[in-house]
Amino acid sequence: MGRALSPIRIRISISIRQQLSNLPESFQGHHMPLQPASAPAPSDTEGSAHVLTPFEWMGGEPQVRALVDRFYDLMDLEPGYAELRASHGSTLDDARQKLFWFLCGWLGGPDHYVQRFGHPRLRMRHMPFAIGIVERDQWLACMDQAMGEVGVNAELRQRLRGSFFQTADWMRNRGV
Ligand code: HEM
Repeated sequence: MGRALSPIRIRISISIRQQLSNLPESFQGHHMPLQPASAPAPSDTEGSAHVLTPFEWMGGEPQVRALVDRFYDLMDLEPGYAELRASHGSTLDDARQKLFWFLCGWLGGPDHYVQRFGHPRLRMRHMPFAIGIVERDQWLACMDQAMGEVGVNAELRQRLRGSFFQTADWMRNRGV
């Protein structure tokens, strides 16, 4: 089928990524330091290019849900994420639901989070929690492990790693 989109054939749009990286600091800080860029898929039979969002590339809501579930399961289970787990409350249920809603929109899919809560203001919402290098790095390692375990495409995973780093680093509210 000429219209079938194979992740292996998808190429990163360097120009879109550069455009995002070049956004002025003031604009980026407003929402997110860096959101993942979309990827152009091969032209369809009519010759017009369909652009896959990271959300579509990942596999839509079922895969985002699987990723978030694995992320919080790992946070709960793995001793290496103990400090990160400790910065959360006794239950992760709220965080699980909200991160799912948030990531759908952040990846270019439906804006569930904004529809419910308005502007994410994530840095402000994280102020009650002490987030330093240890918490940031555990968050990123936990997310990367989850991406690996749920089988996120290797190229997408690498790009998201960069975007997550920018976001998590921007969330730090103490030095160490
Ligand atoms: C850097 C280390 C991070 C730590 C220690 C951290 C910790 C937390 C904690 C403790 C909560 C509250 C959970 C609850 O309501 O029970 C939370 C909420 C949340 N986090 Fe993080 N987080 C981090 C990074 C991130 C990143 C990188 C993202 C997005 C890519 C993110 C997205 C969210 C969202 C969407 C919520 C829900 C906010 C709300 O509406 O209350 N977090 N986080």
